Amino acid sequence: PAERAALKDQIRRLLKEKNAVMVSHYYVHPDLQDLAEETGGLVSDSLEMARFGRDHAAQTLVVSGVRFMGETAKILSPEKRVLMPDLEATCSLDLGCPVDAFSAFCDAHPDRTVVVYANTSAAVKARADWLVTSSCALEIVQALKDKGHKILWAPDRHLGGYIQRETGADMLMWNGSCIVHDEFKAFELEGLMREHPQAKVLVHPESPAHVVALADAVGSTSAILKAAREMDAQEFIVATDNGMMHKLRTLNPGKLFLEAPTAGNSATCKSCAHCPWMAMNGLADVARVLATGANEVRVDPALIPRARQPIDCMLAFTA
Ligand code: 13P
Ligand code: SF4
Repeated sequence: PAERAALKDQIRRLLKEKNAVMVSHYYVHPDLQDLAEETGGLVSDSLEMARFGRDHAAQTLVVSGVRFMGETAKILSPEKRVLMPDLEATCSLDLGCPVDAFSAFCDAHPDRTVVVYANTSAAVKARADWLVTSSCALEIVQALKDKGHKILWAPDRHLGGYIQRETGADMLMWNGSCIVHDEFKAFELEGLMREHPQAKVLVHPESPAHVVALADAVGSTSAILKAAREMDAQEFIVATDNGMMHKLRTLNPGKLFLEAPTAGNSATCKSCAHCPWMAMNGLADVARVLATGANEVRVDPALIPRARQPIDCMLAFTA
């Protein structure tokens, strides 16, 4: 604890010294969430992280999360220095959607509007017409469907399936998934629901369809947080990365939050209910990158103008 407190002090001092601001995702360690908020930065979902990074005056952004979040920040603000605690922190959705195969898929279906999830590389974004996050995917696909568009969707098949069921849009789907949300199991969830009959079930739409079908509320991390505050209930079962529990509990003292069951347990299943890449973000790394300027996010400058287009569409749509 003494070491943690010293690192936090060091980070507070360095943020000021370097005119830097911290942006953290809800899935990273509580220390990094609290520090971001307390120092004038932001803890939020991937959509609002992107908007905040773009709009903040600081010339250095420290993005605690995974690589696509740092890359999005860089694409939106190429003139800023974007640092990440660990540049190896990736995402199974990004890894599962390599640009060459994805480009070939797009080339084979030129009649479709390409809608890509934020959890992708800059090169994949540069092939997209629209970017979405789970906060706005439903509304954006609905609007495209209403205008008569047929969709090519990538990479998360569970989120895509959820949106297809909700909107009835014609969606051709890439076969990717999130290794964390993919582990939530409907059968075990039903068992926990029987033990807690009063509990409301909150589910992130990266989860499998049978889990989504059991939900009282389905939505992004920020939508889950909103539902927990607004729903008239004292108990909740939550199917998303357990990094989320920190904000859920601190903003709702007195309410009980239970983790939805996964296939394995923490001893046998490394990715169960906590993203191994989000877990790579630590206090010592934040202090080190701020002090040294190491781990700067770099995006091929040739890609930036084209990769920015679908992000701008999303930010304008949700403004
Ligand atoms: P949101 O914060 O946009 O819901 O994203 C969830 C996620 O998995 C990010 O990695
Ligand atoms: Fe990717 Fe899933 Fe980790 Fe989010 S939680 S970064 S979607 S692997």
